[in-house]
Amino acid sequence: MDTRETCIVIFGATGDLTRRLLLPALLQLCRAHLLPEHVRILLYARRPYTLPQYLNEVEHELRKAGKSLDGWEKFCQRFIAYVQGGLDEQGICQLGEYVRGNALFYLALPPGVFATASQLLAHAGYHDETHGFRRLIIEKPFGYDLESAQALDRQVREHWHEEQIFRIDHYLGKETVQNILVFRFANLLLEPLWNRNYVEHVQITAAETSGLEGRASYYDQAGALRDMIQNHLMQLFALTAMEPPSSLVYDDLRTEKVKVLKSVRPIPRSAVNAFAVRAQYTAGEINGERVPGYLEEEGIPRNSTTETYAAIKLYVDNWRWRGVPFYLRTGKRLAADRSEIAIQFKVPPLHLFRETPLDRLEPNWFIFEMKPAEAIYLVAQAKKLGLELKPRTIVLRAPYREAGQEGFDAYTTLLLDALEGNRQHFLRFDEVEWAWRVLDPILKAWQSGDSPLSTYPAGSEGPPEAVRILDSEHHQWRPLRPALPTT
Ligand code: BG6
Repeated sequence: MDTRETCIVIFGATGDLTRRLLLPALLQLCRAHLLPEHVRILLYARRPYTLPQYLNEVEHELRKAGKSLDGWEKFCQRFIAYVQGGLDEQGICQLGEYVRGNALFYLALPPGVFATASQLLAHAGYHDETHGFRRLIIEKPFGYDLESAQALDRQVREHWHEEQIFRIDHYLGKETVQNILVFRFANLLLEPLWNRNYVEHVQITAAETSGLEGRASYYDQAGALRDMIQNHLMQLFALTAMEPPSSLVYDDLRTEKVKVLKSVRPIPRSAVNAFAVRAQYTAGEINGERVPGYLEEEGIPRNSTTETYAAIKLYVDNWRWRGVPFYLRTGKRLAADRSEIAIQFKVPPLHLFRETPLDRLEPNWFIFEMKPAEAIYLVAQAKKLGLELKPRTIVLRAPYREAGQEGFDAYTTLLLDALEGNRQHFLRFDEVEWAWRVLDPILKAWQSGDSPLSTYPAGSEGPPEAVRILDSEHHQWRPLRPALPTT
């Protein structure tokens, strides 16, 4: 690694992202001795603070949230200053005093100001790499739809070249997500089965019990499709469906993801209702507590039609996947926190068991679970104990992380990658662009009000209408709180 002084400049230092995720991630790096000595942190935000005041407040918040504060004192020495300023030339010029060698500018800002911030930084010359690397980190969402994403990209790339831009999708920093790659391609076992001959369908789920968590104005503009499916779920989908990349270096991995996104069958605007379902939560109960409906939430217009649940179906028109539906769904205020990729295999021929009580077999499932636990599962059939030849479902489960074992947070991994200039787990613009292209007909149909907006009570499995997009009566949404199989 380059050992010149490196400054991480965080724009939006007082925001939720910085305080709740970025600083704990940097603390974790520091504690693990992975934050090189020459790395310093500079905070930038509008609100007036002194550095000690700011750090005291963050320490207090992290303590309250039950986060580990080991190594906090030492970590505090990494901060150079808290600079108060807005998104204007005068404010940004103040940074010149501190930024000399390498610099990483993290835009932890509302998406609407990414272009302005990146342009202001460039106008002040901070993109110039004469004295060290200069990198720009941008958080999703990248744009609001295809056109705005392309416009944003043009504006950012007017001054910054692609190698300087790090587009974060934090799912790509998650252990279990990175494990999809290793598990798929480092084992011979799965590859022969990973295709249309053996796979019946795939379900990718990211269900949350939480609601808006103070982000009403952002969320009401975004909705579930833009907030989760366009980025996190499309990435999970691409990693599941892509061909093996020829290497994990350079751009090979990202190129394979783009290839699969390009192979998704375009959804005809006139058939959107057969491919996508949207819904909004009404009042209900989560973990024994009454919670309001979306329209009663603070900061949400009473007539909002923003979806808090979205489910879509994709087909990949290539040799491997033709005809296999990929179902993706996400929602807020659902029955459980569950994120998983579940692959259902076809049922084997029953000829052998024709004359026995074993006349119906449950299919095999292979599951990458990210939440509530990090684990890999294989759901299989075995004989029930006893005299009769009856089946029972067994689950072979390999926890990926032992209980209590601390792992690196997604942001920790990604910040380290950005410092090291490793762009493999950041998005290339064409990935973002192709994900928008796939979803564009759905967004357009939903905007024009052509599609019904269903409802579901908070704490439920989602809207009953979600079955509408399933291809066959043998496909069912997996329960968000699956009962463990019994003998
Ligand atoms: C964010 C979304 O990108 O991901 C949030 O904006 C969502 O709405 C979050 O809650 C989920 O992330 P995780 O890591 O908790 O699954």
